[in-house]
Amino acid sequence: MNTDKVLVFTCNWSAYHGLESAGVNHQAYSAAIHPIKVMCLGRLGPGFILKAFEHGAAGVLLLGCPPGECHYDFGNNRAEEMFTVTSDLLHQLGVSNKRLQMDRVTAGDGDTWVEKAQSFVDGLNKNQRPPALLEL
Ligand code: FES
Repeated sequence: MNTDKVLVFTCNWSAYHGLESAGVNHQAYSAAIHPIKVMCLGRLGPGFILKAFEHGAAGVLLLGCPPGECHYDFGNNRAEEMFTVTSDLLHQLGVSNKRLQMDRVTAGDGDTWVEKAQSFVDGLNKNQRPPALLEL
């Protein structure tokens, strides 16, 4: 499978510190991984994720703060609601639930950020190349 585009929406407060730590420590991860920093996973809506698949993303991973540690208090709950709604929409569109996942990374934990992002890509590689959501 061509996983040349795997988006990893990364919350600015905890998870992004993990990504920064991975960078400082020169930790390697797949070139397919495209991190995108967002202030909070709670700011994302289904449209962001559907648009990513529309444009050919092989997968979308959401990495946010651990439970109870969201900088904006409500973001984790809102992100989980959005994740459920978006997963249902993707299921109805015939997109495997393996292509959208959400997880948590504690601040400064570069090992975990790399491990979660890389294992997501490895999981996608075990499957056939997914079709684009829309062929234009
Ligand atoms: Fe990290 Fe909200 S600030 S999930």
